[in-house]
Amino acid sequence: MNNPIASTAGNIIQPHGLAKQLTKLAEAAVVVNPKPRIKYRSVKVICPATSANLGPGFDIFALALSEPYDTIQVTLAGDSVSFRITGPYASDVPEIPEDNVAGFVASHMLATFGIDTGLKVKIRKRIRPGGGMGSSAASAMAMACAIDRLFDLRLCDTDLIEWGALGEMLSGGVPHVDNVSAAYLGGFVVVTRREPLSVIRYDPHPSLYAVLIVPEIEKKNTRAAREAVGPRIAMTKAEAMLALQEACGIITGRVDAIMEATRDLTHIEAKRESEGFYHLLTECKAIGSDFHAGVAGSGAGPSIIALTTRRFARPLSTVMEKLFKDRGIPCRAIVTRPSVKGIKHLVTPIRG
Ligand code: HSE
Repeated sequence: MNNPIASTAGNIIQPHGLAKQLTKLAEAAVVVNPKPRIKYRSVKVICPATSANLGPGFDIFALALSEPYDTIQVTLAGDSVSFRITGPYASDVPEIPEDNVAGFVASHMLATFGIDTGLKVKIRKRIRPGGGMGSSAASAMAMACAIDRLFDLRLCDTDLIEWGALGEMLSGGVPHVDNVSAAYLGGFVVVTRREPLSVIRYDPHPSLYAVLIVPEIEKKNTRAAREAVGPRIAMTKAEAMLALQEACGIITGRVDAIMEATRDLTHIEAKRESEGFYHLLTECKAIGSDFHAGVAGSGAGPSIIALTTRRFARPLSTVMEKLFKDRGIPCRAIVTRPSVKGIKHLVTPIRG
């Protein structure tokens, strides 16, 4: 397989960050010391969209969603990795293995675990890439789980999440784990520590609905959105209190707490506003207060997520969609619910 680092032109990864992540993964592999063996002929993985940050939880909060989701089928075949992408966003995902996050994860996992089998990968891409709904996280995490299952690696949850985060480096330059954790575990996740990784998963309250406004504008670069944030500033006590309040609201279904926590633009959202888009977020937050909804940027944007109850979900989606369209921004509105399920596998036995 070609060197994936050399062929990611236009997606230049910070060599130091990549080396650090790869060293960590290699060290973890030595500790686990799996004896890879072919266990299945094919694995199909269903992976949910996820919404990260949710206002005050930059890089620490994410929520798995029932819709949309990707499916990825990984089958043993030949001696190289090949891709076929289908689905509504097929044209937005490169089929060259080294240029797509799933291929990037696959090449490094196969090399790290000394596996020389080729793979045929089919992805049905329903999550809009560059939309702020964890599209790259879904592909990366699904591939990590598929290889784990196919070759019976039995990696622990945090190691699998770290492999998924390697894929995030290709799209965003940083191995952030919020989206991949929610994609893998489902539910509402809080990244409580990055080194060593600790993620706590909660069931979101079943009364919650999520409304997503997904602008159908030119694909946005997660790396640029992260660069707009600038150097990380430690959370203030006030922000930490808001984050805590929001977590309580998501777990208990107290939308008033979510509203309070997301009422103002966070400093991260405000910095990203300079990209010329996030002023709409301010308007959506104001609309949210009329519709009993907490509104925040979804991940690195440009999608916007509102958390509310069943009664308000459809009317709110209609009003927010109209606002975007009135501003000349084509968009798609999705009314969905948080998902308690993360990745699901369907396996085909070797003699299947
Ligand atoms: N926390 C990440 C960011 C999520 O805001 O860049 C990316 O979807």
